Amino acid sequence: MERGNVDPANLEVLDLATDLATRAGAIQRQRYETRLEVRTKSASIDLVTEVDRECEALIVEGVQSARPGDAILAEEGGGEDHGASPWRWVIDPLDGTTNYAHGFPRFCVSIGVEFRGVRTVAAVYDPLLDELFHAVRGAGAWLGERKLEVSATADLGQALVATGFAYDVHQSQDDNLARFAQVLKAARGIRRDGSAALDLCYVAAGRLDAYWEFKLHAWDVVAGCLIVEEAGGQVSNTSGGPVPASGDEIVASNRRLHEAILAQMKT
Ligand code: IPD
Ligand code: CA
Ligand code: CA
Repeated sequence: MERGNVDPANLEVLDLATDLATRAGAIQRQRYETRLEVRTKSASIDLVTEVDRECEALIVEGVQSARPGDAILAEEGGGEDHGASPWRWVIDPLDGTTNYAHGFPRFCVSIGVEFRGVRTVAAVYDPLLDELFHAVRGAGAWLGERKLEVSATADLGQALVATGFAYDVHQSQDDNLARFAQVLKAARGIRRDGSAALDLCYVAAGRLDAYWEFKLHAWDVVAGCLIVEEAGGQVSNTSGGPVPASGDEIVASNRRLHEAILAQMKT
């Protein structure tokens, strides 16, 4: 990132976010494939481990000590989601917990930071590949020192697309399966990798051409949305409007494919 052109206030937040993401990622790397205490949350397939909680504690304490007053929304409930400061940290301490609990090597730390409600800074860290995706609004999206750019694919038939399924999939009829079947028949390939934040970063990096999912949360998508946008991609809801603040539905693409993937959402 050309740091000289970036607002120092944004750089300060970026440096803290990347430091905390890499430190939490180091915990994940150390504890990967060790015996873990695994509990369930909203459903029997919605897991949490002590590593999720340790990573969240590290990040929340790091933000609170460096920037008391900033609001914090963190998946496992740490921090206070209000404050006098215009900054709000949206934290998924371990995105891909099911993968982590099974020793499947696809998970990350995701930290998105909003300024007055606008996605402004992002850090997503994959500790096994040691890949640090980061972005500042207006300053591009980066993987380490490499500036990211979305793919040029303009034909859904040549696209690699990812999605995911919510934790209520055993109970709910609203299960994303019809759309999954439809895109499977239309795209070159489809993936369900199990980390929404990495799926978004992969769209930004051109490794995926598009991604969609429902019933997510803000902590799954705030960082990744900024990284996609700063890499030249597009994020929206399934009607082409803004991604809801709740993160409840998201379509992300390299921009060229956006209309085609939105058309697939109309089942
Ligand atoms: C999950 C992952 C997964 C997505 C789920 C998310 P978690 O996050 O991002 O890819 O399909 O809907 O909840 O629970 O591992 O942080
Ligand atoms: Ca998540
Ligand atoms: Ca998580």
